[in-house]
Formats: sequence, structure tokens, C-alpha cells
Amino acid sequence: MKQMSLVGCARIIVEKMVKLSKDESVAIITDYNYPREISNAIFECSLASGSESAIILTSPPTGGFISGDIPKIAKATADSADVIFACTSTSFPIPVRTDLVKKGKKFILMHHLSKDLFLRTVPIDLDLLQRRAEKLVKILPKTDEVHMTSLGSSDIKFSLKDCKIGLIYDGICNPGEFDAVPSGVVDALPVPDTGNGILVIDGSLSGYGLIRTPMRITVKDGKLIKIEGGPEANWLDKAMKKSLSEGDENANHWAEFLIGLNPNANLTRQGSLLEDERQLCGINIGWGRDTHFGGKFESKFHGDGHLIDATVTLDGIKYIDNGKPTKELFG
Ligand SMILES: [Fe+2]
Repeated sequence: MKQMSLVGCARIIVEKMVKLSKDESVAIITDYNYPREISNAIFECSLASGSESAIILTSPPTGGFISGDIPKIAKATADSADVIFACTSTSFPIPVRTDLVKKGKKFILMHHLSKDLFLRTVPIDLDLLQRRAEKLVKILPKTDEVHMTSLGSSDIKFSLKDCKIGLIYDGICNPGEFDAVPSGVVDALPVPDTGNGILVIDGSLSGYGLIRTPMRITVKDGKLIKIEGGPEANWLDKAMKKSLSEGDENANHWAEFLIGLNPNANLTRQGSLLEDERQLCGINIGWGRDTHFGGKFESKFHGDGHLIDATVTLDGIKYIDNGKPTKELFG
């Protein structure tokens, strides 16, 4: 099948995800290390929609995801626009994004993208994605007991009863919302204190990359209490213990249970969490702070890891079987 062009993909984002009208102004925040073809394609499509559009090419955000910042001139431009595309080579800082979303803007997070990932994961059926995301958003908070196993011998039970749904990247972005490219994520916050069992992270690990030795995490009453494995496990264990010893009591809180929904995202086996976590029915686990996606647990610490080929049973019904959706999920 012929691959869609960059401009064709950008048109999907501008016209279908954002539904850009000519009355809305657009700011594209980008930097010199970001693939110029992507930001230019978004710019071209924004202009074609008749919108007043600006592309700000500046230095990458500094200071990281949690407490970083963007150059003042980029912030001023974003502040004056209705729609913001964050096309940055480093993580776009959460506080800046949160502030813009609170002001009622449409915000599309497009950081860390490669041209290949963009071309593969944007041309999907967005209506289908939205229906699937809606279904999960309905089912998950009704679940008293989740039982999850995985190829790497995870075996854990927890509750999602009345849980908060943190992130929904369903390919639709209204004013005062943010979505991401690639889209295709529903992220639930496990009910605190309910997780008990073993999680085996064997895909990718945020801040580290590819996992070569599966990392076995013991979870007790919603806390990650033991981390075993190879160098990756030692790296995480040391960092988490340091935070805990400094009084950061939520550093080991089990914060996220995320299900990927993008049919064109693959398990990379190269440590790319950005793509791994979007893989259809891929499971991603997060720990530490959850306030940046609507939770109550504050911490300086946050991390994520990917489980390969999980099987997920909700109140006795299997919805994901060895990394594949069952007919109960999408039938
Ligand atoms: Fe996370």
C-alpha cells in the first residue's frame, strides 16, 4: 500500500484531530533538532485552513518533562494562539502545557517524533479509535478486580472500581484539552492500595531505554516494594530508594495502568516507550507522581515501563489475550 505523504498526515491532524477553523490562530513551537519536515507540514496545512499561523523555531525545551521551561518568545507566541502544536525534540514541559490547556487552548503534544513514526502512526481510523477509547473509558472504572498476567510472568490483581481515567489520546482535541501524536492511549489510575502481585517489565523503561534483563517488581498494597533483575532493575531500585530516603513517600506508588490503542504502533524492541506504549493492547505501567494526569499523589519521581504480551481479565472476562484484543473488547 502506498504510504501517505507528510502533508497528508499533517492534514489528518489539522483537519480531523484539531478540526481547525480559520478563526483559530496556530502556534507551532519547534526547535533545531526536530524533524523540520513534520513541523513544516503542520504549518503548511494550518495556513491552507486559512488560519493565522506562526512557526517558532528556537532552542529545545530545557529542564525536563516535570519542571522544565521553553524560551520566553515561544511561550509568548503560544499564549497568543488558540491552537498549539508542540513539535520539540526534547520533552515538552508539563507545567507549560498544563497552563496553556487551562487557558482553553487546543494542545497537541508531538515531542520526540521521528518522520517514520509520524508517517506510520498518524494515518489510522480515528473514528474507530475514538469508539474503542470510549469503550475502555466506560468499562475500566466499573471493574472491581483486574487480573493481569504477561509473557514475562507478571501475575497481579488490582481494582479499577470508580478509578480516575488520567489520559485519553483518542485523536480528538477540543478547546481546553490536549491530545498527542501518536494518538491511541487510555490511562487508568489503579485504586490506591489495591495492587498485589508481580509485574515484569520487559519492554522499555523510561529514562533508560531497552530492557535486556526482565525487571521483576513486587507490588504490595499498591506500592512497589521490591525491584529485581539486571542493571535496569538496579538503576531503578537505586533511584527509587534514594527518593524514598529523602522523604518522597509516593516515589513507589503504583500510579498508572495504560492501554495502547494505535493499530500502527509496534513493539519496537529498541526501548522506544513512546511507540511501545501506543501499541494496540500494549500495557504500560507507571509509578510515582500521578498529579500530572489528574491524580492526588505528589512526588518528584515518575517512571514508566512496558510489559510484553499481557493478558488482562476484568471481573472474570478476558479482554486482552497475550497482547491481542479479544472479541469482548473490540468485537
Ligand atoms: Fe507515565
